[in-house]
Amino acid sequence: MVEILPSVLAADFARLDADIARVSVDGVSMLHLDVMDGHFVPTISFGPPVIQSIHKLTHLKLDCHLMIEKPDFLIPLVVEAGAYSISVHQEACTHLDRTLSTIHTHGCKAGVVLNPATPVSTLDDILDQCDYVLLMSVNPGFGGQKFIRRVLDKARALAARRQALGLSFAIEIDGGIGPENTAECVRAGVDWLVAGTSLFRAPDPAAATREMITTAKAARGLVA
Ligand code: DX5
Ligand code: ZN
Repeated sequence: MVEILPSVLAADFARLDADIARVSVDGVSMLHLDVMDGHFVPTISFGPPVIQSIHKLTHLKLDCHLMIEKPDFLIPLVVEAGAYSISVHQEACTHLDRTLSTIHTHGCKAGVVLNPATPVSTLDDILDQCDYVLLMSVNPGFGGQKFIRRVLDKARALAARRQALGLSFAIEIDGGIGPENTAECVRAGVDWLVAGTSLFRAPDPAAATREMITTAKAARGLVA
């Protein structure tokens, strides 16, 4: 199933209710929430208390992307706050197998994130435990950056690996995604497309979200 996930990082944090309502159009079922610690990435965003507040004001499933060092401590708090899915960075987890088990034990979908410079092959021995793999198409930490096209090759390689192994994890992409590159991402095998700036900062966020859904479904060969 192809999904468009609005990334709240690009919303107005003082008006989350109104901004989230604008992108909650038919066909959107998940919101993407970026947790940043000022260590793994240079900036700080928000943590469990804000996730909990968002959980109270939306019916959408919350996809939590942890850009933090040593995420194990925070996982139960993010679950408690209302997460549906939690992804951790391969580069930040010394004991990735254990971390994914912790996420599953708490009843959440578990994902692994790869920075642009981290090869898909680093996940060879963990793919069967992933509900999804998130490919960063920018260096993480900031919204509004330019899409790194080389990640499309990684998406194609990962999709081929998924098929060869008979697995069914979703492939997610995050960073610089908008109407101009949606179709090629879907054709490369991407299932979940995260978009911040291109949706929340569009003149009409609802229309921009609908347009991306239509484009993604058409590229997947589904009737929009
Ligand atoms: C970047 C974050 C993204 C960010 C994407 O580190 O992980 O989720 O919100 O923002 P855009 O869509 O503006 O590139
Ligand atoms: Zn993200």
